[in-house]
Amino acid sequence: MQRDNAVRCAGGSLGLACPAVTPGAIAMSFLAQRLGRIKPSATIAVTQKARDLKAAGRDVIGLGAGEPDFDTPDSIKEAAIKAIRAGDTKYTAVDGTPALKAAIVAKFKRENGLTYAADQVIVGTGGKQVLYNALMATLNPGDEVIVPAPYWVSYPEMVVLAEGTPVTVACPANNGFKLRPEDLEAAITPKTKWLILNSPSNPSGAAYTAAELKALGEVLKRHPQVHVLTDDMYEHLVYDGFEFTTPAQVTPELYERTLTMNGVSKAYCMTGWRIGYGGGPKALVKAMTTIQSQSTSNPSSVSQAAAVAALNGPQDFIAEHNKHFKARRDRVVAMLNEAPGLHCHKPEGAFYVYPSCAGTLGRKTPEGKTIESDEDFVTYLLEREGVAVVQGSAFGMAPYFRISYATSMDLLEAACTRIKRACEALG
Ligand SMILES: Cc1ncc(COP(=O)(O)O)c(C=O)c1O
Repeated sequence: MQRDNAVRCAGGSLGLACPAVTPGAIAMSFLAQRLGRIKPSATIAVTQKARDLKAAGRDVIGLGAGEPDFDTPDSIKEAAIKAIRAGDTKYTAVDGTPALKAAIVAKFKRENGLTYAADQVIVGTGGKQVLYNALMATLNPGDEVIVPAPYWVSYPEMVVLAEGTPVTVACPANNGFKLRPEDLEAAITPKTKWLILNSPSNPSGAAYTAAELKALGEVLKRHPQVHVLTDDMYEHLVYDGFEFTTPAQVTPELYERTLTMNGVSKAYCMTGWRIGYGGGPKALVKAMTTIQSQSTSNPSSVSQAAAVAALNGPQDFIAEHNKHFKARRDRVVAMLNEAPGLHCHKPEGAFYVYPSCAGTLGRKTPEGKTIESDEDFVTYLLEREGVAVVQGSAFGMAPYFRISYATSMDLLEAACTRIKRACEALG
């Protein structure tokens, strides 16, 4: 079968050495082999590097963070404080409190037109755990998971941890970094168990229209063995009147084989509270609950109370935040497109842009080093101008880099000015 754009990669073939694990005093043989198959998060590494440089007195602007710069709204904080005072400090049901599950069921109905019963919903410690549970509960060695690239760094690593095989499919910039039906068709095999779809996307910001999702749904209808893991984490962060939709909503035939994942981390500025959730087939949710029951049990009781307030409470601050995100996106895209060697596509949502640095490759830094990759380019930006961004190779598509614009306009303008200056200094 022809597999245009498809790359099979089980750990090592992705170049997944394990630089994070420096065994020190413990013998290598003590560590599990699975650790050698995955790599630590590049986004967390960049954020930490920027923090370390700042602590050492360097003037660094960090554009690596994957979280809103806005604080959690007071109404949500108050609900958490109230829960603590009321003694909601004990274990809850593994898959979430009845109150939070009811709020999630209502949210899916209200915002996505999806009907889930309470036993079709699971709450996890962040959206990340929901994804991890799903993969752990379903993958056997050799099962394939289609991951459109550029992808969120954790997808292929989680697949590998669950002993599956990530199949990355390149989604080029000329299609707005979105998966094309023909490329999906070519990547599907009898072993394909999941397609992971993330819209709006981290790292590209790309979001699929209902028509685009429908076209992918037509392909999936022909392949009943393929399930859809849809990561809707950035649902509310869309601009210019873009209308968000989700696969099970636009292709109802997929409802029985879709896990619709979402969470409060991004839209409600609650990254540290660690609440995510999923809705899907009852048997899948039950299997995921079993995994969770033997690993972490319930997510924090206090955070769950806060998430009830988030989902059921006032939503007006989201539009307020989005005004800022949109203005920042527009400014960053405009400024980056003035930098020689860069080209920046304007995406539909999230708080990331994913510019190409292809035009800087082969050029020389003032120190005489040739820029050979996006990794070289981001290292150059950090060392010369103190701007921390993440190389595209970490997201499976080079030569690009990711900028998070979840920071103030002043800092973004200063960072883009520095980036432009760094590009102009290349020989
Ligand atoms: C695409 C995507 N999915 C999932 C997550 C994880 O969300 P949470 O913090 O709720 O675990 C993130 C966080 O960066 C993300 O970018």
